[in-house]
Amino acid sequence: MTPDLKVVIAGVEFSNPLMTASGCCGYGEELSEIFPLSKLGGLVTKSITLHPRLGHPTPRTAETSCGMLNAIGLANVGVDKFIAEKIPFLARQKTKIIVNVAGSTIKEYVEVCARLNDCEPIDMVELNISCPNVDEGGMEFGADPKMTEKSIRAVKKVFQRPLIAKLSPNVTSIVEIAQAAEQGGADVLSLINSLVGTAIDIDTWQPRLTNNKGGLTGPAIKPIALAMVDAVYSHCKLPIIGIGGIASAADVVEFMLCGATAVEIGTALFIQPDIPVKIAKDLKTYLKDKKLTSITNLIGKVRKYK
Ligand SMILES: Cc1cc2nc3c(=O)[nH]c(=O)nc-3n(C[C@H](O)[C@H](O)[C@H](O)COP(=O)(O)O)c2cc1C
Repeated sequence: MTPDLKVVIAGVEFSNPLMTASGCCGYGEELSEIFPLSKLGGLVTKSITLHPRLGHPTPRTAETSCGMLNAIGLANVGVDKFIAEKIPFLARQKTKIIVNVAGSTIKEYVEVCARLNDCEPIDMVELNISCPNVDEGGMEFGADPKMTEKSIRAVKKVFQRPLIAKLSPNVTSIVEIAQAAEQGGADVLSLINSLVGTAIDIDTWQPRLTNNKGGLTGPAIKPIALAMVDAVYSHCKLPIIGIGGIASAADVVEFMLCGATAVEIGTALFIQPDIPVKIAKDLKTYLKDKKLTSITNLIGKVRKYK
């Protein structure tokens, strides 16, 4: 029997637990030229804001040991153009569509989500309350429990489908923020966003990003993300989408054992854009070897030492 990769999150059925991470495949158009997006459980878009943003000047990415730094600065087409020009393409894709939303004020988050609520093809919204690469908004919301709760509660009033709160690792206690998101009415938690970092060019003595600092992602952050998923799973009831350095089926298994119901794949897409297809295949082989019929048998099953 072929093992079943299907997972259900907040009442929405995903054909497998593999999604793209926000900002790592734009709005999906280029990725669809590499493999049919139906192979993904879900596609998460680049963060959308109320108004279009050009983002920071280049260089805005830099390679590091076992990862990369980016300070894109939330470059995106803005919600109106997104709805007019990107939604028709996304609506044709046979995968779940999750729109990531960012803002500088609660009012902005609410306004964008209210407009997205009228778009039928959207299955969920992921609220980016954790962007480290903008001066205002983003991380301010996700670093303070009260602001986290308030922003989620406000968006829940206008967006009627499941809402994911995307959490920042750049906090003292991610559990405290996760509980605030739960309190505010979030349906799902996704974690983690990137960790603040920098790199310096030793010839010019300048930072390698025009924003001077950026967000670290890729395999370097996986152990941190896993420990955070594990901690949040132990203290919250909401389903978790694990993010951080995932590049193989083994990585997905680790995240699911620590409590994730699904995962998002980011930096690995820049190295091998069709990696989700390979991971899905390898996951089936792993489950078969372990004689498991469903991938859901892995969720939270890590065998911890006493
Ligand atoms: C180039 C780049 C752009 C990103 N843009 C966004 C974004 O717009 N919104 C967001 O919530 N996360 C953004 N992220 C963070 C990813 O969604 C993800 O949380 C992070 O990269 C960790 O996963 P990874 O290690 O698999 O890349 C971006 C990451 C990268 C590398």
